[in-house]
Amino acid sequence: MNRFRNDLPALSNKDYFNYGGQGPLPKSSLHAITSSWEKIQELGPFTNDVWPFISNEIKGTKSLIAEFCGVTSHRIALTENVTSGCVLTLWGLPFSKGDRLLISNCEHPGVVSACKEVAKRKDLHIDILDVLSLRKGIEGSKENQDEVIKTIEGGLTARTKLVVLSHLLWNTGQIMPIELIANLLLNQPNQPYFLVDAAQSFGQIPIRDSASKVDIYAFTGHKWAFGPEGLGAVVLSERVLLEARPTLVGWKALTNESSIYTNEIEPFHKDARRFEIATSCTPLLAGLRCSLNLLNEQGSDSERINSIKLRSKRLWLELKGVTSINPVLQDPPPAGLVSFTVNSKLSPNQIVKLLAEESIYIRVLEDPIWLRACVHITSTEEEIERLISALKKL
Ligand SMILES: Cc1ncc(COP(=O)(O)O)c(C=O)c1O
Repeated sequence: MNRFRNDLPALSNKDYFNYGGQGPLPKSSLHAITSSWEKIQELGPFTNDVWPFISNEIKGTKSLIAEFCGVTSHRIALTENVTSGCVLTLWGLPFSKGDRLLISNCEHPGVVSACKEVAKRKDLHIDILDVLSLRKGIEGSKENQDEVIKTIEGGLTARTKLVVLSHLLWNTGQIMPIELIANLLLNQPNQPYFLVDAAQSFGQIPIRDSASKVDIYAFTGHKWAFGPEGLGAVVLSERVLLEARPTLVGWKALTNESSIYTNEIEPFHKDARRFEIATSCTPLLAGLRCSLNLLNEQGSDSERINSIKLRSKRLWLELKGVTSINPVLQDPPPAGLVSFTVNSKLSPNQIVKLLAEESIYIRVLEDPIWLRACVHITSTEEEIERLISALKKL
């Protein structure tokens, strides 16, 4: 683990708790990116010699992502980030006037505003699913699960066409029972589509059983997977591949670029490439692969989350021990996101700024206004101690 931590220059000069915003990039991944960039210049950049290299890069990356998600590569589209994975596919679903979207009240503003715009243009209604009020941590996870299922059952209508929910809520830090919900939706007469924002789950918690069962599972490499910014992916279900239309249409979605003016038949790939658009940054693929391989070397996905949970429990207990601090969850968190409030004359933004002066980095969440500190497998006890003692001083 020390070797891995030493490969992360961003961690050498600060105490870092913003993995949920962006994870640090290993030196090895940066090296893989520049080597790939050099190779492209050596072979191309636009020559027949470079195409097999680029095509192998794409194939290798999709197959590694597929392994992480427990699906086959043809269900994976490469994207730029979480939001584009959610939004590109959301717009392509076959909505009819009067359909309803059931979206949780813990979603990210980008996805929420896309849902609102789709609803406006297509005459749909939005229903809100309350998961924000759930405050149990790991000890109450079964009760949370039952509560979420009950709330979803209560929120579904005969016209619900889509349910939108994050796998790991970015504000409370709770894990949603995605597999159970997918089964519940499948048993509804109208079988609503299920879109899952996996921004906080990919690279952090086991995801195979969830990613393989929902319709749209969108994530990025640049948070918990230690990948470079600008590269993400989305896993699509077979029925989305059949029933959704490409949205931001470009040449990458086409099976054949010739005779596109005259060709009357369906021009798009049947697999997830139908949601890919055009030229993108190939060298990032090598960077993400390198980071995912390094992550795999640190242990299995269950070992990873157990190691994260040990750290978040420690942080949660320490925070709880400070009189003026209230963790958002009632018991230790099920993953690495730890949100809390501080009773102080200082505003949350002032607290973040003062901590940064001591090279300690946490963030403010805007709605609700909470402070959030994230821990990953690379977080150390010393970092947690320094954060707590700095908070106590404030
Ligand atoms: C839950 C969630 N969804 C979406 C996003 C947006 O990510 P991106 O910029 O990769 O689209 C974030 C970023 O913090 C997030 O936490």
